[in-house]
Amino acid sequence: MPITIEGALTKNLDRLYEIETECFKQEAFGKQHIAHLLTDYDSISLVARADGEIAGFIIGIIYGQGNAFVGHILTVDVSPAYRRKGIGLQLMQEIEKLFMGKGVRTCHLEVREHNLAALRLYEKSGYRKVNKLKNYYGNANGICLRKVLA
Ligand SMILES: CC(C)(COP(=O)(O)OP(=O)(O)OC[C@H]1O[C@@H](n2cnc3c(N)ncnc32)[C@H](O)[C@@H]1OP(=O)(O)O)[C@@H](O)C(=O)NCCC(=O)NCCS
Repeated sequence: MPITIEGALTKNLDRLYEIETECFKQEAFGKQHIAHLLTDYDSISLVARADGEIAGFIIGIIYGQGNAFVGHILTVDVSPAYRRKGIGLQLMQEIEKLFMGKGVRTCHLEVREHNLAALRLYEKSGYRKVNKLKNYYGNANGICLRKVLA
């Protein structure tokens, strides 16, 4: 199945929100939040298409920390029917390239400690655990992971 990655557009919002709610229940990003991120100057949003259909997306944001720019991946979501086809991995690789093009040298993210699929994806992408985030997701713990991009 040919996978292509492109910038997310506001007109994709309904599909992105649909995927977000397929992936997460109570903790799904709200539609307005996604809409805001799609137009935020400091964020990068990408969609993956499989056979032309939007199958997943990723949103990251860049901010300054001291003299450096840091990338923060906020979410990566792949619709259940399209999982284990390398889409998550491609979205990660593509956003990292764009981060680097904007001067980002390190990237970090958070994940629920029991989200095995995401943890494996991040470790396969080269992220390493930094610390545990107690009750980061209400009653559930999070893990912060980090990667030096260059
Ligand atoms: C996590 C998620 C984005 C992975 O997307 P994906 O397109 O299926 O991932 P890929 O096919 O690129 O997988 C890359 C690697 O991640 C690991 N992986 C992915 N899904 C996995 C699973 N269910 N169990 C174990 N390892 C898994 C594997 O190492 C895989 O490589 P392999 O298929 O060669 O073994 C997807 O499961 C998802 O959308 N989950 C719900 C949303 C979510 O939790 N997002 C992360 C929020 S922090």
